[in-house]
Amino acid sequence: MKFGHFDDANREYVIETPRTPYPWINYLGTQGFFSLISNTAGGYSFYKDARLRRITRYRYNNVPIDMGGRYFYINDNGTIWNPGWSPVKTELDAYECRHGMGYTIIKGKKNDLKAEVTFFVPQDYDGEVQQVVLTNEGKSDKTFKFWSFAEWCLWDAQDDCTNFQRNFSTGRVEIVGSTIYHKTEYRDRRNHFAFYSVNDKIDGYDTDRDTFIGLYNGFNDPQQVTAGKCGNSLADGWSPIASHYKEITLKAGESKTLVFILGYVEMPQDKKFEADGKTINKEKALAMMEKYNTPEKFAAGMAELRAYWDKLLGIINVNTPEDKVNRMVNIWNQYQCMVTFNLSRSASYFESGIGRGMGFRDSNQDILGFVHQIPDRARERLIDIASTQLPDGGCYHQYQPLTKKGNADIGGDFSDDPLWMILAVAAYIKETGDWSILDEKVPYDNDESKAKSMLDHLTVSFYHIVKNLGPHGLPLAMRADWNDCINLSCFSDTPGESFQTYTNPKFKKEGGYSKVAESVFVAALFTYVGPSFVGILNHLGKKKDAEKAQKEIDKMKKVIMDSAWDGNWFLRAYDANGQKMGSNECEEGKIFIEPQGFAIMSDVGKEQGADKKTLAAIDERLNTQHGLVLNNPAFSKYYIQYGEISTYPGGYKENAGIFTHNNAWIICAAAYAGEGDQAFKYYSEIAPAYTEETSDIHKTEPYVYGQMIGGKDAGSDIGQTGKNFGQGKNSWLTGTAAWNMVAISQYILGIQPDFDGLKVDPSIPASWNGFTATRLFRGAKYNITIKNPSHVCKGVKSMVVDGKAVDGCVVPFVEGKKEVNVEITLG
Ligand code: BGC
Ligand code: NOJ
Repeated sequence: MKFGHFDDANREYVIETPRTPYPWINYLGTQGFFSLISNTAGGYSFYKDARLRRITRYRYNNVPIDMGGRYFYINDNGTIWNPGWSPVKTELDAYECRHGMGYTIIKGKKNDLKAEVTFFVPQDYDGEVQQVVLTNEGKSDKTFKFWSFAEWCLWDAQDDCTNFQRNFSTGRVEIVGSTIYHKTEYRDRRNHFAFYSVNDKIDGYDTDRDTFIGLYNGFNDPQQVTAGKCGNSLADGWSPIASHYKEITLKAGESKTLVFILGYVEMPQDKKFEADGKTINKEKALAMMEKYNTPEKFAAGMAELRAYWDKLLGIINVNTPEDKVNRMVNIWNQYQCMVTFNLSRSASYFESGIGRGMGFRDSNQDILGFVHQIPDRARERLIDIASTQLPDGGCYHQYQPLTKKGNADIGGDFSDDPLWMILAVAAYIKETGDWSILDEKVPYDNDESKAKSMLDHLTVSFYHIVKNLGPHGLPLAMRADWNDCINLSCFSDTPGESFQTYTNPKFKKEGGYSKVAESVFVAALFTYVGPSFVGILNHLGKKKDAEKAQKEIDKMKKVIMDSAWDGNWFLRAYDANGQKMGSNECEEGKIFIEPQGFAIMSDVGKEQGADKKTLAAIDERLNTQHGLVLNNPAFSKYYIQYGEISTYPGGYKENAGIFTHNNAWIICAAAYAGEGDQAFKYYSEIAPAYTEETSDIHKTEPYVYGQMIGGKDAGSDIGQTGKNFGQGKNSWLTGTAAWNMVAISQYILGIQPDFDGLKVDPSIPASWNGFTATRLFRGAKYNITIKNPSHVCKGVKSMVVDGKAVDGCVVPFVEGKKEVNVEITLG
């Protein structure tokens, strides 16, 4: 069942009912000011940091769901409604929500009154601009009452929802004309305030929540709205809000447009106040209001936003026989990559914005998805991340976006972290050809005095793996590898211990983790990433260093085949007791997804047919109609030696859930191995556009990936097998966005930046006749045509570049060329 449709021409998803199976959201803002907005206008805003600088309040885990947002209320002679249906939930005569690139339009209609609200955050602007167009579509005059509403958060979101004894006494606002200023703590240590303004005269306001809503009422029945008036209240502690009140009369056919601005302002210490030393200096705020105070200026801001997205989405454009692929690649997957780049894992409807900083591995992997769009910001991000690395190659697992410093509470020793940095830096160089990043002096542990070249960072990253091997010669698993829930050194038996940070005293003298537990996943990631490091060294003419590194890769491949090949697939790990994990010999969790793809893409055991055997085992044991489960059979009890993975009921999260992030690795691997049909099958099982028809089952947004889809075992432990199979969770902020962008564009469609040029080596469904694509790459536009007359999946039979035959499938890079025509015939 569908709840809307794609409008590809406008790059929008159009939601046709407010009753989606879960709130379907969008993000506004790309620089400092961000808003989350659901299809009924729920959500919140923050500046840079969703925890430390929260601007409006939102209620996670609330009943009913999705409470807190920016609401407009209408009282039309006793009929009370919101343009976005919620929170009053009066049945509307018409409703539509269009989520677009950085904006959302919500339209509602009741009794011939139409309200169309457009929300967006302009470029280089710290505020959300909201344009409300009210139209009387009836045949006679209409007089009605209109309110805006936003609830202020007292800046620190964590404190705001816990420290009531203080917070109920601090709230302060200022009201001047049609603008309500929120200035809690501005008198003392804060140099920032927020405001909510409208470009028209108002007939009153409220700034005290209880006066507006009523202590025992809800957002669905604010007492002032019911009474058709306002309280002109001045907040004095408790919960400050901002609500404008206006009485409006529209003639038949007449429209009225109002522009509201929810802004955030920082002031220099010496300019905070007017001469009286207590009134806010509003200079900057007024300039912000001036910028968007007419419909014309609003339209210009929207046009600028569209132009920004035209540019970002104009870099990769594909035209395949599948509309769904085209809309994922050309629009939504790229859009999601930008959102994950901006927000990492901080704020969504599943991430509360107070949970975690920027992940070392997460942010590196995110680079893979957006580096082509904004290489400069990728470069800056890479340097920020590398600056938190430790001199021995180890890494802080997270860093804080405001301070850009490694987070000591979480610490390090996650065995995979350093490798992702090699992959991300290599991806940056392959995309841009900017080798100078390797010479950049980058601090260790944020200490400038310890700065060394980026190449040094890559070198210590590579050798951090080599220097931390276990008894079989495989990398130590440490606290966790990519899978945060495989904690082979925890042996945790006490509720509340964090699997991510708990150190079992048992391993104290070893430095916190077992020196026996080994990760086959990290081994395979090492053999996959290692060649990029070797490629970099070779390019720099460091032949000896390259050979030395290559030897380590070859050695690791041998070790994997000798000690981690289970006969039909690769093992997952050796636990701290030296026992195999992810082997056919195991009772549960016989096969895991994670190591398989990277081993296949490293050609480990290829001569023995390991790639095809593994792909067959995956198809047989892990694949389902909704994607590949992480492991099988699911764990049905707690395995203390494994940790968090076995705390999840089977079919959810890392315990046999469909963890879409690692599905991409198999899609890449199947494509790499020439199995284009298999790759495409897995791609289309999870790609959001393909889940649209079953949105009632999938629940989350059909335009973006979620972290997890309920696996085939979901509910089996409680006799409900199949009930939540296919149900999505944790949408938006996931490494799945970047990796599936890589899987479809670089592996299936095969357009892959390489050190020496653009490689084009598709692995597509045999039924396709081919496809075309354009790709901007290092200043040139590549017009690519793929022909598939023999209906194969993979194999470049011939390549013609600008009319001349070229061997292989890498279009050599020629400096200064502006346009390159590439024609490839598969066969
Ligand atoms: C989740 C993981 C996540 C980890 C760290 C675990 O509870 O299952 O997906 O990576 O927490 O936040
Ligand atoms: C989500 C985390 O953000 C990511 O870093 C991790 O790899 C996966 N969960 C798997 O546990």
